[in-house]
Amino acid sequence: MIKAAVLGGGNIGSGVIAVIEENQEQIRKTLPEGMEVKYVLDLREFPGTSFEHKVVHDISIIVNDPEIKVVCETMGGKEPAFTFSKMALEKGISVCSSNKELVEAHGPELIRIAKEHGCSYLFEASVGGGIPLLHPLITCLAQEEIQSIEGILNGTTNYILTKMEREGADYAATLKEAQDLGYAERNPEADVEGHDTGRKIAILASLMSTKSVRFQDEKVEGITAITPADFAYAGANGYTIKLIGMARLCGQKLRIQTAPFLIPDTHPLYAVHDVFNGVLVHGNMVDDVMFYGRGAGKLPTGSAVVSDMINAAANPGRTLEVHWDAQVLAPEPAEGYENAFFVRVPAASEKKAREAFAGSIKQVWTAQCAPEGEFAFVTDVMREDAFEEKAACCGVISRIRMLNR
Ligand code: HSE
Repeated sequence: MIKAAVLGGGNIGSGVIAVIEENQEQIRKTLPEGMEVKYVLDLREFPGTSFEHKVVHDISIIVNDPEIKVVCETMGGKEPAFTFSKMALEKGISVCSSNKELVEAHGPELIRIAKEHGCSYLFEASVGGGIPLLHPLITCLAQEEIQSIEGILNGTTNYILTKMEREGADYAATLKEAQDLGYAERNPEADVEGHDTGRKIAILASLMSTKSVRFQDEKVEGITAITPADFAYAGANGYTIKLIGMARLCGQKLRIQTAPFLIPDTHPLYAVHDVFNGVLVHGNMVDDVMFYGRGAGKLPTGSAVVSDMINAAANPGRTLEVHWDAQVLAPEPAEGYENAFFVRVPAASEKKAREAFAGSIKQVWTAQCAPEGEFAFVTDVMREDAFEEKAACCGVISRIRMLNR
Protein backbone atom coordinates (compact mmCIF):
# COMPACT_ATOMS: atom_id res chain seq x y z
CA MET A 1 0.00 0.00 0.00
CA ILE A 2 1.19 3.50 -0.77
CA LYS A 3 1.02 5.42 2.49
CA ALA A 4 -0.39 8.93 2.48
CA ALA A 5 -1.02 11.60 5.09
CA VAL A 6 -3.77 14.17 5.24
CA LEU A 7 -2.94 17.59 6.68
CA GLY A 8 -6.26 18.95 7.98
CA GLY A 9 -9.09 16.49 8.68
CA GLY A 10 -11.97 18.97 8.19
CA ASN A 11 -14.49 19.13 5.36
CA ILE A 12 -12.15 18.55 2.39
CA GLY A 13 -9.64 16.38 4.29
CA SER A 14 -12.41 14.00 5.37
CA GLY A 15 -13.63 14.03 1.74
CA VAL A 16 -10.16 12.89 0.63
CA ILE A 17 -10.26 10.06 3.18
CA ALA A 18 -13.75 9.02 2.03
CA VAL A 19 -12.69 8.93 -1.63
CA ILE A 20 -9.59 6.84 -0.83
CA GLU A 21 -11.60 4.44 1.36
CA GLU A 22 -14.60 4.05 -0.93
CA ASN A 23 -12.86 4.05 -4.32
CA GLN A 24 -9.88 1.83 -3.51
CA GLU A 25 -10.78 -0.47 -6.41
CA GLN A 26 -10.72 2.44 -8.88
CA ILE A 27 -7.43 3.73 -7.41
CA ARG A 28 -5.85 0.30 -7.90
CA LYS A 29 -6.32 0.57 -11.67
CA THR A 30 -3.51 3.14 -11.63
CA LEU A 31 -1.75 2.11 -8.41
CA PRO A 32 -2.04 -1.71 -8.20
CA GLU A 33 -0.65 -1.68 -4.64
CA GLY A 34 -3.46 0.67 -3.49
CA MET A 35 -3.33 3.78 -1.34
CA GLU A 36 -3.94 4.14 2.37
CA VAL A 37 -4.10 7.14 4.68
CA LYS A 38 -1.68 6.48 7.54
CA TYR A 39 -1.93 9.80 9.37
CA VAL A 40 -4.33 12.71 9.70
CA LEU A 41 -2.71 15.83 11.11
CA ASP A 42 -5.07 18.10 13.00
CA LEU A 43 -5.47 19.89 16.32
CA ARG A 44 -8.81 18.11 16.75
CA GLU A 45 -9.41 14.42 17.61
CA PHE A 46 -12.39 13.29 15.41
CA PRO A 47 -13.81 10.62 17.74
CA GLY A 48 -16.21 8.22 16.05
CA THR A 49 -14.75 8.70 12.56
CA SER A 50 -13.03 6.02 10.46
CA PHE A 51 -9.74 7.86 11.02
CA GLU A 52 -9.85 8.60 14.75
CA HIS A 53 -6.86 6.29 15.39
CA LYS A 54 -4.79 7.94 12.68
CA VAL A 55 -4.88 11.44 14.14
CA VAL A 56 -1.52 12.99 15.03
CA HIS A 57 -0.71 16.50 16.20
CA ASP A 58 2.92 16.75 15.19
CA ILE A 59 4.01 17.25 11.55
CA SER A 60 7.45 15.77 12.25
CA ILE A 61 5.86 12.31 12.74
CA ILE A 62 4.67 12.51 9.12
CA VAL A 63 7.70 14.01 7.41
CA ASN A 64 10.10 11.71 9.27
CA ASP A 65 8.21 8.54 8.37
CA PRO A 66 9.97 7.05 5.32
CA GLU A 67 6.78 5.15 4.42
CA ILE A 68 4.90 8.37 3.58
CA LYS A 69 5.06 9.00 -0.17
CA VAL A 70 2.44 11.71 -0.59
CA VAL A 71 0.58 14.19 1.60
CA CYS A 72 -2.49 16.21 0.88
CA GLU A 73 -2.73 19.68 2.35
CA THR A 74 -6.36 20.55 3.02
CA MET A 75 -5.76 22.89 5.95
CA GLY A 76 -6.59 26.18 4.27
CA GLY A 77 -4.88 29.50 5.06
CA LYS A 78 -1.23 30.38 4.57
CA GLU A 79 0.24 29.21 7.86
CA PRO A 80 1.06 26.66 9.05
CA ALA A 81 0.11 25.14 5.67
CA PHE A 82 3.10 26.79 3.95
CA THR A 83 5.65 25.62 6.55
CA PHE A 84 4.24 22.08 6.63
CA SER A 85 4.14 21.82 2.82
CA LYS A 86 7.76 22.98 2.62
CA MET A 87 8.81 20.45 5.28
CA ALA A 88 7.23 17.60 3.31
CA LEU A 89 8.63 18.70 -0.07
CA GLU A 90 12.13 19.10 1.39
CA LYS A 91 11.92 15.42 2.40
CA GLY A 92 10.99 14.50 -1.19
CA ILE A 93 7.33 13.88 -0.30
CA SER A 94 4.89 15.16 -2.93
CA VAL A 95 2.23 17.59 -1.71
CA CYS A 96 -1.26 17.87 -3.22
CA SER A 97 -3.21 20.92 -2.13
CA SER A 98 -6.75 22.29 -2.26
CA ASN A 99 -5.57 25.51 -0.61
CA LYS A 100 -6.02 28.33 -3.13
CA GLU A 101 -4.85 31.00 -0.69
CA LEU A 102 -1.52 29.26 -0.26
CA VAL A 103 -1.20 28.30 -3.93
CA GLU A 104 -1.85 31.88 -5.06
CA ALA A 105 0.61 33.34 -2.56
CA HIS A 106 3.43 30.77 -2.71
CA GLY A 107 2.78 28.54 -5.72
CA PRO A 108 6.04 29.21 -7.63
CA GLU A 109 8.19 28.78 -4.52
CA LEU A 110 6.59 25.46 -3.60
CA ILE A 111 6.85 24.25 -7.21
CA ARG A 112 10.57 25.14 -7.18
CA ILE A 113 11.18 23.36 -3.87
CA ALA A 114 9.39 20.27 -5.19
CA LYS A 115 11.60 20.28 -8.29
CA GLU A 116 14.76 20.63 -6.21
CA HIS A 117 13.77 17.56 -4.19
CA GLY A 118 12.52 15.29 -6.98
CA CYS A 119 8.86 15.37 -6.01
CA SER A 120 5.72 17.27 -7.08
CA TYR A 121 3.58 20.14 -5.84
CA LEU A 122 0.12 19.76 -7.36
CA PHE A 123 -3.06 21.75 -6.72
CA GLU A 124 -5.87 20.59 -9.00
CA ALA A 125 -8.49 21.07 -6.26
CA SER A 126 -7.53 24.70 -5.62
CA VAL A 127 -9.60 25.90 -8.60
CA GLY A 128 -12.99 24.62 -9.73
CA GLY A 129 -13.57 22.09 -6.91
CA GLY A 130 -14.15 18.69 -8.53
CA ILE A 131 -13.61 19.85 -12.12
CA PRO A 132 -10.54 18.40 -13.82
CA LEU A 133 -9.23 21.78 -14.94
CA LEU A 134 -5.59 22.52 -14.13
CA HIS A 135 -4.25 19.16 -15.30
CA PRO A 136 -6.01 19.43 -18.71
CA LEU A 137 -4.87 23.06 -18.97
CA ILE A 138 -1.24 22.09 -18.29
CA THR A 139 -1.18 18.89 -20.33
CA CYS A 140 -3.98 18.65 -22.95
CA LEU A 141 -3.75 22.37 -23.79
CA ALA A 142 0.07 22.63 -23.53
CA GLN A 143 0.29 23.25 -27.28
CA GLU A 144 -2.13 26.18 -27.15
CA GLU A 145 -1.60 29.88 -26.74
CA ILE A 146 -4.34 30.43 -24.17
CA GLN A 147 -5.81 33.85 -24.87
CA SER A 148 -8.59 34.06 -22.32
CA ILE A 149 -10.13 32.28 -19.38
CA GLU A 150 -13.43 33.37 -17.93
CA GLY A 151 -15.30 31.44 -15.34
CA ILE A 152 -17.76 31.04 -12.54
CA LEU A 153 -15.20 29.95 -9.98
CA ASN A 154 -16.99 30.12 -6.64
CA GLY A 155 -19.68 27.62 -5.71
CA THR A 156 -21.02 29.54 -2.72
CA THR A 157 -21.79 32.74 -4.60
CA ASN A 158 -23.21 30.87 -7.57
CA TYR A 159 -25.49 28.99 -5.18
CA ILE A 160 -26.61 32.28 -3.61
CA LEU A 161 -27.14 34.05 -6.95
CA THR A 162 -29.10 31.09 -8.34
CA LYS A 163 -31.42 31.08 -5.31
CA MET A 164 -31.86 34.85 -5.55
CA GLU A 165 -32.76 34.56 -9.21
CA ARG A 166 -35.09 31.56 -8.98
CA GLU A 167 -36.70 32.02 -5.59
CA GLY A 168 -36.05 35.64 -4.72
CA ALA A 169 -34.29 34.05 -1.73
CA ASP A 170 -32.94 36.04 1.15
CA TYR A 171 -29.18 36.64 0.92
CA ALA A 172 -28.25 35.87 4.56
CA ALA A 173 -30.39 32.71 4.76
CA THR A 174 -28.94 31.38 1.51
CA LEU A 175 -25.39 32.05 2.66
CA LYS A 176 -26.15 30.08 5.83
CA GLU A 177 -27.40 27.17 3.65
CA ALA A 178 -24.18 27.28 1.61
CA GLN A 179 -22.19 27.18 4.85
CA ASP A 180 -24.22 24.21 6.15
CA LEU A 181 -23.61 22.37 2.88
CA GLY A 182 -19.84 22.82 3.33
CA TYR A 183 -19.42 25.13 0.33
CA ALA A 184 -18.44 28.39 1.98
CA GLU A 185 -15.05 29.41 3.34
CA ARG A 186 -14.51 29.51 7.11
CA ASN A 187 -14.80 33.27 6.70
CA PRO A 188 -17.49 33.55 3.98
CA GLU A 189 -16.45 37.14 3.28
CA ALA A 190 -13.80 35.56 1.05
CA ASP A 191 -16.63 34.10 -1.07
CA VAL A 192 -19.10 36.99 -1.21
CA GLU A 193 -16.51 39.77 -1.55
CA GLY A 194 -14.95 37.98 -4.53
CA HIS A 195 -11.58 37.20 -2.92
CA ASP A 196 -11.90 33.45 -3.49
CA THR A 197 -12.75 33.92 -7.17
CA GLY A 198 -10.00 36.54 -7.40
CA ARG A 199 -7.39 34.09 -6.09
CA LYS A 200 -8.59 31.33 -8.40
CA ILE A 201 -8.46 33.49 -11.53
CA ALA A 202 -5.00 34.71 -10.44
CA ILE A 203 -3.88 31.04 -10.32
CA LEU A 204 -5.40 30.40 -13.75
CA ALA A 205 -3.82 33.56 -15.18
CA SER A 206 -0.45 32.48 -13.78
CA LEU A 207 -0.74 29.09 -15.47
CA MET A 208 -1.92 30.79 -18.67
CA SER A 209 1.04 33.18 -18.73
CA THR A 210 3.55 30.94 -16.82
CA LYS A 211 4.39 34.06 -14.77
CA SER A 212 3.12 35.16 -11.35
CA VAL A 213 -0.16 37.03 -11.55
CA ARG A 214 -0.96 38.29 -8.07
CA PHE A 215 -4.36 38.57 -6.45
CA GLN A 216 -3.22 41.81 -4.79
CA ASP A 217 -2.79 43.45 -8.23
CA GLU A 218 -6.27 42.52 -9.36
CA LYS A 219 -9.49 44.54 -9.40
CA VAL A 220 -12.03 42.57 -7.36
CA GLU A 221 -15.71 43.15 -6.65
CA GLY A 222 -18.07 40.74 -4.89
CA ILE A 223 -21.81 40.10 -5.02
CA THR A 224 -22.98 41.95 -1.92
CA ALA A 225 -24.48 44.85 -3.88
CA ILE A 226 -26.60 42.61 -6.17
CA THR A 227 -30.34 42.81 -5.41
CA PRO A 228 -33.55 41.08 -6.57
CA ALA A 229 -34.31 44.23 -8.61
CA ASP A 230 -31.14 43.65 -10.65
CA PHE A 231 -32.34 40.11 -11.37
CA ALA A 232 -35.78 41.45 -12.39
CA TYR A 233 -34.20 43.60 -15.10
CA ALA A 234 -31.75 40.88 -16.12
CA GLY A 235 -34.43 38.18 -16.44
CA ALA A 236 -36.80 40.41 -18.41
CA ASN A 237 -34.08 41.16 -20.94
CA GLY A 238 -32.61 37.68 -21.48
CA TYR A 239 -29.71 37.88 -19.05
CA THR A 240 -28.59 36.44 -15.74
CA ILE A 241 -26.02 37.70 -13.22
CA LYS A 242 -22.91 35.68 -12.32
CA LEU A 243 -19.72 36.37 -10.41
CA ILE A 244 -17.03 36.03 -13.07
CA GLY A 245 -13.28 35.80 -12.83
CA MET A 246 -11.72 36.72 -16.16
CA ALA A 247 -8.21 36.91 -17.52
CA ARG A 248 -7.32 37.89 -21.06
CA LEU A 249 -3.78 37.81 -22.37
CA CYS A 250 -2.59 39.57 -25.50
CA GLY A 251 1.18 39.21 -25.80
CA GLN A 252 2.41 40.35 -22.37
CA LYS A 253 -0.67 42.55 -21.82
CA LEU A 254 -2.91 41.06 -19.18
CA ARG A 255 -6.42 42.07 -18.24
CA ILE A 256 -7.67 40.42 -15.06
CA GLN A 257 -10.85 41.19 -13.20
CA THR A 258 -13.33 39.64 -10.77
CA ALA A 259 -16.83 41.13 -10.65
CA PRO A 260 -20.51 40.32 -11.12
CA PHE A 261 -21.37 40.38 -14.82
CA LEU A 262 -24.63 40.25 -16.77
CA ILE A 263 -24.47 37.18 -19.01
CA PRO A 264 -26.71 36.82 -22.09
CA ASP A 265 -28.71 33.60 -22.53
CA THR A 266 -26.57 32.82 -25.60
CA HIS A 267 -23.38 32.56 -23.53
CA PRO A 268 -22.09 29.10 -22.46
CA LEU A 269 -21.78 30.22 -18.81
CA TYR A 270 -25.46 31.30 -18.66
CA ALA A 271 -26.69 27.84 -17.66
CA VAL A 272 -24.16 27.18 -14.89
CA HIS A 273 -26.28 27.17 -11.74
CA ASP A 274 -26.19 26.31 -8.03
CA VAL A 275 -22.86 25.15 -6.65
CA PHE A 276 -21.60 24.31 -10.14
CA ASN A 277 -18.66 26.13 -11.69
CA GLY A 278 -18.05 26.66 -15.38
CA VAL A 279 -14.80 27.74 -16.99
CA LEU A 280 -14.49 28.84 -20.59
CA VAL A 281 -10.96 28.67 -21.97
CA HIS A 282 -10.07 30.13 -25.35
CA GLY A 283 -6.99 28.85 -27.14
CA ASN A 284 -5.62 30.21 -30.42
CA MET A 285 -5.93 26.84 -32.19
CA VAL A 286 -8.58 24.87 -30.33
CA ASP A 287 -10.94 27.87 -29.98
CA ASP A 288 -13.37 27.52 -27.02
CA VAL A 289 -13.18 24.72 -24.45
CA MET A 290 -15.63 24.60 -21.56
CA PHE A 291 -15.16 22.88 -18.18
CA TYR A 292 -18.14 22.23 -15.91
CA GLY A 293 -18.70 20.53 -12.56
CA ARG A 294 -19.25 20.97 -8.85
CA GLY A 295 -17.12 23.87 -7.69
CA ALA A 296 -17.23 23.11 -3.97
CA GLY A 297 -18.16 20.38 -1.51
CA LYS A 298 -16.44 17.63 0.38
CA LEU A 299 -16.51 14.72 -2.10
CA PRO A 300 -16.03 16.58 -5.42
CA THR A 301 -13.10 18.58 -4.01
CA GLY A 302 -11.76 15.48 -2.23
CA SER A 303 -11.91 13.63 -5.55
CA ALA A 304 -9.79 16.32 -7.26
CA VAL A 305 -7.19 16.12 -4.47
CA VAL A 306 -7.04 12.33 -4.78
CA SER A 307 -6.50 12.58 -8.55
CA ASP A 308 -3.31 14.55 -7.80
CA MET A 309 -2.29 12.09 -5.08
CA ILE A 310 -2.61 9.17 -7.52
CA ASN A 311 -0.67 11.08 -10.17
CA ALA A 312 2.13 11.95 -7.74
CA ALA A 313 2.29 8.43 -6.29
CA ALA A 314 2.38 6.91 -9.78
CA ASN A 315 5.51 8.97 -10.55
CA PRO A 316 7.90 8.36 -7.63
CA GLY A 317 11.16 10.29 -7.68
CA ARG A 318 9.89 12.44 -10.55
CA THR A 319 8.64 15.99 -10.67
CA LEU A 320 5.39 16.56 -12.54
CA GLU A 321 6.14 19.86 -14.22
CA VAL A 322 4.00 22.93 -13.60
CA HIS A 323 5.31 25.98 -15.47
CA TRP A 324 4.81 28.92 -13.15
CA ASP A 325 7.68 31.35 -12.81
CA ALA A 326 8.22 33.67 -9.81
CA GLN A 327 8.57 36.67 -12.16
CA VAL A 328 5.56 38.94 -11.62
CA LEU A 329 3.28 39.81 -14.52
CA ALA A 330 1.48 43.02 -13.60
CA PRO A 331 -1.92 43.55 -15.21
CA GLU A 332 -2.80 46.58 -17.32
CA PRO A 333 -4.37 49.40 -15.25
CA ALA A 334 -8.01 48.49 -14.56
CA GLU A 335 -9.35 51.94 -15.45
CA GLY A 336 -8.60 51.18 -19.10
CA TYR A 337 -10.64 47.93 -19.20
CA GLU A 338 -13.56 48.17 -21.58
CA ASN A 339 -17.09 46.99 -20.81
CA ALA A 340 -20.68 47.83 -21.54
CA PHE A 341 -22.61 48.64 -18.35
CA PHE A 342 -26.17 48.13 -17.17
CA VAL A 343 -27.16 51.15 -15.07
CA ARG A 344 -30.11 52.00 -12.82
CA VAL A 345 -30.72 55.62 -11.78
CA PRO A 346 -33.73 57.33 -10.14
CA ALA A 347 -36.32 58.43 -12.74
CA ALA A 348 -35.63 62.00 -11.63
CA SER A 349 -32.05 61.62 -12.91
CA GLU A 350 -33.05 60.42 -16.39
CA LYS A 351 -32.32 63.79 -17.99
CA LYS A 352 -28.89 64.04 -16.33
CA ALA A 353 -28.07 60.46 -17.32
CA ARG A 354 -29.11 61.07 -20.94
CA GLU A 355 -26.90 64.17 -21.04
CA ALA A 356 -23.93 62.49 -19.36
CA PHE A 357 -24.08 59.37 -21.51
CA ALA A 358 -25.09 61.30 -24.63
CA GLY A 359 -24.85 59.04 -27.67
CA SER A 360 -23.68 56.03 -25.64
CA ILE A 361 -26.99 54.76 -24.29
CA LYS A 362 -27.52 51.66 -26.36
CA GLN A 363 -30.81 50.37 -24.92
CA VAL A 364 -33.37 51.33 -22.30
CA TRP A 365 -34.39 48.36 -20.15
CA THR A 366 -37.75 47.84 -18.50
CA ALA A 367 -39.05 44.96 -16.41
CA GLN A 368 -42.50 44.17 -15.08
CA CYS A 369 -41.25 43.45 -11.54
CA ALA A 370 -38.73 46.29 -11.45
CA PRO A 371 -39.05 48.98 -8.78
CA GLU A 372 -41.14 52.05 -9.65
CA GLY A 373 -39.47 55.37 -10.35
CA GLU A 374 -36.29 54.19 -12.03
CA PHE A 375 -34.61 54.73 -15.37
CA ALA A 376 -32.51 51.73 -16.45
CA PHE A 377 -30.27 51.52 -19.47
CA VAL A 378 -27.35 49.73 -21.11
CA THR A 379 -24.34 51.67 -22.34
CA ASP A 380 -22.05 51.11 -25.28
CA VAL A 381 -18.70 49.51 -24.53
CA MET A 382 -16.54 52.12 -22.80
CA ARG A 383 -13.47 52.42 -20.58
CA GLU A 384 -14.04 52.00 -16.84
CA ASP A 385 -12.71 55.49 -16.09
CA ALA A 386 -14.95 57.08 -18.74
CA PHE A 387 -17.95 55.27 -17.27
CA GLU A 388 -17.15 56.39 -13.72
CA GLU A 389 -16.84 60.00 -14.85
CA LYS A 390 -20.22 59.96 -16.60
CA ALA A 391 -21.94 58.00 -13.80
CA ALA A 392 -20.72 60.36 -11.06
CA CYS A 393 -23.48 62.93 -11.61
CA CYS A 394 -26.45 60.54 -12.03
CA GLY A 395 -27.07 59.14 -8.53
CA VAL A 396 -26.51 55.58 -9.75
CA ILE A 397 -28.58 52.98 -7.82
CA SER A 398 -26.64 50.09 -9.26
CA ARG A 399 -24.40 49.30 -12.17
CA ILE A 400 -23.29 45.89 -13.45
CA ARG A 401 -20.81 45.14 -16.18
CA MET A 402 -21.91 43.09 -19.17
CA LEU A 403 -19.90 40.17 -20.46
CA ASN A 404 -18.95 40.72 -24.06
CA ARG A 405 -17.48 38.08 -26.32
N1 HSE B 1 -15.75 28.44 -0.86
C1 HSE B 1 -15.32 27.87 -2.09
C2 HSE B 1 -16.46 27.95 -3.08
C3 HSE B 1 -14.88 26.45 -1.88
O1 HSE B 1 -17.60 28.18 -2.64
O2 HSE B 1 -16.24 27.80 -4.27
C4 HSE B 1 -14.23 25.80 -3.07
O3 HSE B 1 -13.03 26.45 -3.42
